[in-house]
Amino acid sequence: MIMKAVEITSYGAPEVLRLGERPDPVPAAGELLIRVAASGINRPDVFQRTGNYPVPPGASDIPGLEVAGEVVGGDAKELAKAGLKLGDRVCALVAGGGYAELCTAPIAQCLPYPKGLSDVEAASLPETFFTVWSNVFDRGRLQKGETLLIQGGSSGIGVTAIQLAKAMGATVIVTAGSDDKCAACLKLGADHAINYKTQDFKDEVKRLTDGKGVDVILDMVGGSYVAREVECLAEDGRIVIIAVQGGTKSEFNAGLVLRKRLTITGSTLRPRPVAFKAAIAQACLKHAWPLIENGSIKPVIHSTWKAVDPSEPTGSGAAKAHALMESNQHIGKIVLTWETK
Ligand SMILES: NC(=O)c1ccc[n+]([C@@H]2O[C@H](COP(=O)([O-])OP(=O)(O)OC[C@H]3O[C@@H](n4cnc5c(N)ncnc54)[C@H](OP(=O)(O)O)[C@@H]3O)[C@@H](O)[C@H]2O)c1
Repeated sequence: MIMKAVEITSYGAPEVLRLGERPDPVPAAGELLIRVAASGINRPDVFQRTGNYPVPPGASDIPGLEVAGEVVGGDAKELAKAGLKLGDRVCALVAGGGYAELCTAPIAQCLPYPKGLSDVEAASLPETFFTVWSNVFDRGRLQKGETLLIQGGSSGIGVTAIQLAKAMGATVIVTAGSDDKCAACLKLGADHAINYKTQDFKDEVKRLTDGKGVDVILDMVGGSYVAREVECLAEDGRIVIIAVQGGTKSEFNAGLVLRKRLTITGSTLRPRPVAFKAAIAQACLKHAWPLIENGSIKPVIHSTWKAVDPSEPTGSGAAKAHALMESNQHIGKIVLTWETK
């Protein structure tokens, strides 16, 4: 059987994303098959499209790292063991293949929708919640009462990090590139927002923390930011680098690392093994899903785009969705829709 999928036809501008046809994927042992209702769009998809984020071995070359929809295939016994059956709706973190009508996913990386969420909202969760949990709470060891600085507070990652960290009892400072974005972050619960285009975040952090500095920094910029981050970390502070949008090279005062006993770490989720992601899935289910269900944390959907759109020259709204993400005009998540409920 043949399904529709949004393919990267060559590396380049958003228009290289085109609606095409692919054979239906077949779930392997330990996987299930999802009829995709909605596919979350993430910045790593943009990097993949431009040829800057290679597909991990064994993963689909179709972009898309998160989906939500109906379980339509998989071994009945394996599904039952996970408390699932055909017809259930799940959201899943996948290593690729999300921009398609059908997508396979490791069962251990699938979670039920938090009660009350739509397909679009559910599709917006896995990539940012798994990434934030793994990096802010596991690697960064953010504790109740500590202060977190989030670089890029209005990003998909940022809006999740703000809400999760606040719900866990941390003080949150964010940076963003406009006053409107700063206002949106404050509305989501951030305690302070710094417009990094008009203010120096290092000076502002020092002012806001009475010179003490922050305990954890979630950094998606890298480059020259690291030097200033080392300066505005508190004693025993941790920097967790999840992207290097500002470049890979940094020159910083190593003396501060030892004097303040700092940790500089980082990670990338996509190539990690299923067992690692399964553990994060369970942590999200236990700690984050109840917060979504009781309304403490809300998905922030900026816009949705039709995966199949005959009015578009590419046959899909995906190109416009990527162009929007690259324009940095969005606040929160951008989602591609198939047949949603
Ligand atoms: N390591 C991992 O496992 C992992 C997983 C998922 C995502 N990521 C990374 O996390 C980042 C966010 O992903 P996303 O999907 O949420 O993307 P997104 O919504 O497109 O966000 C990108 C953000 O980067 C911010 N930014 C760019 N330059 C900045 C600077 N100099 N200072 C502060 N902020 C800056 C932008 O903020 P302004 O518009 O305000 O400038 C924008 O909000 C991406 O870089 C992505 O590659 C890493």
